[in-house]
Amino acid sequence: MQPVRPFRLVDSHCHLDLQQFDADRVEVVARARAQGVGLIINPGIDLEHCSRALALAEQIEELYVAVGIHPNSAESFDEPVLESLEKLAKHPKVVAIGEIGLDFYWKASTPETQRRVFIQQLELAATLGLPVIIHSRDANHAVREILGDWINSRLFQRSPLARRPFAGVLHAYSGDLALAEEAYRWNFVLGLGGPVTFRNAHGLRELVPKLRLDRLLLETDAPYLAPHPFRGRRNEPAYIALVCETLAQLFALTPEEIAIQTTATALRFFGLEDRFGVDFSGHVTAVHS
Ligand code: NI
Repeated sequence: MQPVRPFRLVDSHCHLDLQQFDADRVEVVARARAQGVGLIINPGIDLEHCSRALALAEQIEELYVAVGIHPNSAESFDEPVLESLEKLAKHPKVVAIGEIGLDFYWKASTPETQRRVFIQQLELAATLGLPVIIHSRDANHAVREILGDWINSRLFQRSPLARRPFAGVLHAYSGDLALAEEAYRWNFVLGLGGPVTFRNAHGLRELVPKLRLDRLLLETDAPYLAPHPFRGRRNEPAYIALVCETLAQLFALTPEEIAIQTTATALRFFGLEDRFGVDFSGHVTAVHS
């Protein structure tokens, strides 16, 4: 039995494995704990970083991992990498496949390569029954088409993923209300982070209160996308509290209400309800590890 450590917030997307945290990772995790962040999901960007994140997750109790090849690393993807991802995904701390998707902004590889790598990893997720963490930059149209085909495929429909509460998350959500509604039909949720706090993000801040609160995950995407007033500096999971406060303002709710709902969704999304219990005040406690 773990010592009871109540928490209220989840950072559903944080690259704690990156070198930006090498000098002070222990302090970063301690600051997150002090803000009530009890669960941090570290998505992979390439095979080396997936292994690195898993090694960290073996030491840091609240760290869980998604394994996958980021579209900006699509060139590194081949059959042996796919097989390695499948092996890593059996680790008890792996809870998703990601982050995967398309990035037509950086264009680190051709759209054809990115599509192939994305689709093969969606197929892996369906085979393993793990939800997906989707990266989409300047590519919402193509991502929508590929995800729609995947959801309607026989592979997906027959997969254990079709019976889970949620199939995936559109991380750093940048779409409109129509795409959000399409995502709900796919049993997807939306990830919101630092950009909702940016004073000039008018479109996003107008959209947020129209979104379904029961379909949202909080995320930092640290070390990137630090929220106001830390914009432009290194982001860290403790700052998820600032995202929570901004969402509370935009929804005209209390931060506690935002925390309770988004944490409940995160535990269901990552299949961790059996490892954590929520007490009457909405605080989460580790029941067993
Ligand atoms: Ni990311």
